[in-house]
Amino acid sequence: MSSGEIGSDIRQAATLLRDGGVIGMPTETVYGLAALASDEEAVRRVFDIKGRPYNHPLIVHLSPTEDLSQWGHFNSDATALAQAFWPGPLTLLVPRTARVSDWVTGGRDTVAIRVPNHPVAESLLELVSDGVVAPSANLFGKVSPTEAKHVFNDLGKLVDYILDGGSSEHGVESTIVECIDTPTILRPGSISKDDIEAVLHISMQADTGESRAPGMLTSHYAPNARVVLVETIEELRSQISELSISGTRCISLHFDSVQEYAFRLYASLRQADETGVTVVVALLPPDQGLGVAIRDRLRKASH
Ligand code: TXA
Ligand code: MG
Repeated sequence: MSSGEIGSDIRQAATLLRDGGVIGMPTETVYGLAALASDEEAVRRVFDIKGRPYNHPLIVHLSPTEDLSQWGHFNSDATALAQAFWPGPLTLLVPRTARVSDWVTGGRDTVAIRVPNHPVAESLLELVSDGVVAPSANLFGKVSPTEAKHVFNDLGKLVDYILDGGSSEHGVESTIVECIDTPTILRPGSISKDDIEAVLHISMQADTGESRAPGMLTSHYAPNARVVLVETIEELRSQISELSISGTRCISLHFDSVQEYAFRLYASLRQADETGVTVVVALLPPDQGLGVAIRDRLRKASH
């Protein structure tokens, strides 16, 4: 198998996947480390490449033309959310079918499913015409990749190919909603609580999901630099000036729009490490909409 190069050949990527390869795959949220869901050996390689514990389950990515009932049991909430947001940055946790192996779910009786909204990913999934597992294509606990070169820098020597689809449009991982009894958000993302409530005509409880979605550990998405969180621009300025006076290499992280914040968050953290910055001072965005997801990732990066 070829090794680790970045390219834009969707057919080659599909052939590699069908032959049991592991590749970097672009999506609209972050890049994924992709393998055929039905190939146990390839799925195991995904865990090994990331250094991820085998009991942390993976998301199955499907093309919009796939028959969902082959993969999971969708209740009325799951069906409504799928209709409203797929293809898109939403993952639904539903009871699994027999087609989904223990290797994918870590032995759980549920499966996380997502239909990504990215032209390259869509073509790839269509060509593969099977489920594709894809955790974020970073080393376990580290910053997620939003560009092909991020995957190359972290995992280039370990994967068979990296399919370039440009910068990920959203920049934070998909919103995960468990649709079993009461619908619950297990991980915030760019589809907000308000968006989900509007479709389901309910008001949802806050849930950190720590217990139900393994892998959402307190420390995650972490760069080597220390991440300091502040709530106001005044606090940001005073922290930066104190650090600079003491000779600490630091940068500030703040953006006027939450969309831009999400889009540039991971690339900024990566760049800080590449340029020898030791402290990142990040201004927390307001705790609503996409801001909830950014605060979640920043809090974990700062731990
Ligand atoms: O945006 C995304 O979702 C990206 C792109 C590549 O699609 N993928 C992603 O995958 O973020 P990953 O593996 O980094 O995060 C998936 C999360 C993990 O915390 C995992 O524990 C949870 O989803 N998860 C997956 N299947 C689950 C299951 N059956 N039960 C509970 N949690 C599950
Ligand atoms: Mg991840």
